[in-house]
Amino acid sequence: MVEGMNEVDARHVAAYYASLPPITTASGKEAPLFSPYETGKALAPACAKCHGEDGNSKIPGTPSLAGQQPRYFVVAIQEYLHRDSQKTQMHSMLAGLSRLDMESLALYFASQTPVPRAARRWLVIRRQANRSAPCVAAVTALTA
Ligand code: HEC
Repeated sequence: MVEGMNEVDARHVAAYYASLPPITTASGKEAPLFSPYETGKALAPACAKCHGEDGNSKIPGTPSLAGQQPRYFVVAIQEYLHRDSQKTQMHSMLAGLSRLDMESLALYFASQTPVPRAARRWLVIRRQANRSAPCVAAVTALTA
């Protein structure tokens, strides 16, 4: 059954299970309800201005977050926060997020369907930190 699933199905199934309430605890008391998906959804409007309502950005130079790998997403945020020189609007927003908030946002955006977007050649090359890296030469050759 899993073999018939495409990437989008898998994301939807993951988001569905993440949104289910937890089972009751051994003591019989109900565990507090927490939905990472709903938490991420509630936090996401703060990111919409730049990254788009559903995580599909329409602004050149601003990456889309829809369908992004949750693990990569969390690492990207943490790396961004550690770059001291970048005191941007996004930086100040991210600084207030807990680890759980970041993971919730990651799950929410991962479950959004990415809209294909044309990468602009200059953008691909500009994002490489080291311009002499072999991959830059390869990308330049491909897109020339
Ligand atoms: C003021 C505009 C703005 C807002 C608001 C904003 N971002 Fe960003 N974000 C950007 C830009 C521009 C980049 C690309 C920066 C770079 O590559 O250094 C980015 C990059 C990212 C990345 C890295 C993506 C990648 O593919 O490398 C993540 C993750 C991210 N933002 C998450 C968020 C989250 C979560 C929020 C809401 C809490 C948010 N952003 C709010 C402008 C914004």
